Amino acid sequence: MKIKTIGIVGVGNMGSAILRGILKKKLFRPSRILAYDVISAKASSLAKELKIHSAKSAAEIAAKSDLILLAVKPQNLPETAAALKSQFKKNPAIITILAGVPVKTIKKHFGSKAIVVRAMPNLGATVGESFTAITGDKALLPVAGKIFSSCGEVMVFPESRFHAVTALSGSGPAYYFFLMELAMIEALKRGFSAGEAVRLAKQTAKGAAILAAGSQLDPAVLRAQVTSKGGTTEAALGVLFDNKFPALFSKAIDAAVKRGEQLGKAVS
Ligand SMILES: NC(=O)c1ccc[n+]([C@@H]2O[C@H](COP(=O)([O-])OP(=O)(O)OC[C@H]3O[C@@H](n4cnc5c(N)ncnc54)[C@H](OP(=O)(O)O)[C@@H]3O)[C@@H](O)[C@H]2O)c1
Repeated sequence: MKIKTIGIVGVGNMGSAILRGILKKKLFRPSRILAYDVISAKASSLAKELKIHSAKSAAEIAAKSDLILLAVKPQNLPETAAALKSQFKKNPAIITILAGVPVKTIKKHFGSKAIVVRAMPNLGATVGESFTAITGDKALLPVAGKIFSSCGEVMVFPESRFHAVTALSGSGPAYYFFLMELAMIEALKRGFSAGEAVRLAKQTAKGAAILAAGSQLDPAVLRAQVTSKGGTTEAALGVLFDNKFPALFSKAIDAAVKRGEQLGKAVS
């Protein structure tokens, strides 16, 4: 597909992170990038900083873009689609990152001829370290692959995997933040200052993440390697296993999958 101009609709956490990745990798010239947000100050301050174009309306985005990156919340889909739809000159090409919303729902809102890729990135995109799953129309997949490679790793999955990928990876960073939060609470309880607790928690997580990411070994093997028989790690992990932490985590993922399904149904 020939795509020269991209319009980003919704420049919150994710829209702006993906935008920065695109610019860093020079996938589009800044003059070929348009941003629009209902909070116009968000789009205009980003435009000023990054020398891109701030669109005055969704209609302007639709009229000027070859490709739309849809980065609003799922519940804002109906009004966003309505505002964009009337202004398209040809079949719209759309990349959507809306959690839970299937390709068929996007086509229902934008027309059956819309060319659509559904992507599920995560907050790692803000530091160029997202894991992004993509699926959808073959003609647009290579472009989507390039866009999301600019902010991390990309894999193509069948859409049937998307609720699981959303629960595990889209929401994933929060689970690791939660573990850091719990480590901090324990450090504070044991007399560390807040500054010490936060460094202890974040640097430990960073070391583990970098180590795991750079290793050929499975996390389970890495865990076994640092769990000496009769040691402190074994004592801690024993409590987690005895109290069914794996089953609890599995329940948490089930809840995220279910919520993704509900979000999709609400706008179908
Ligand atoms: N955050 C994540 O970790 C993550 C991960 C994967 C996927 N996602 C998906 O990414 C999407 C965006 O998430 P986010 O965290 O970036 O949300 P966000 O920070 O709230 O950004 C969305 C932006 O879009 C604006 N907006 C709402 N309606 C609009 C409209 N009709 N036209 C233009 N702009 C509009 C919002 O303004 P208001 O605040 O005034 O509504 C907000 O500025 C969601 O669909 C989410 O499911 C998020």
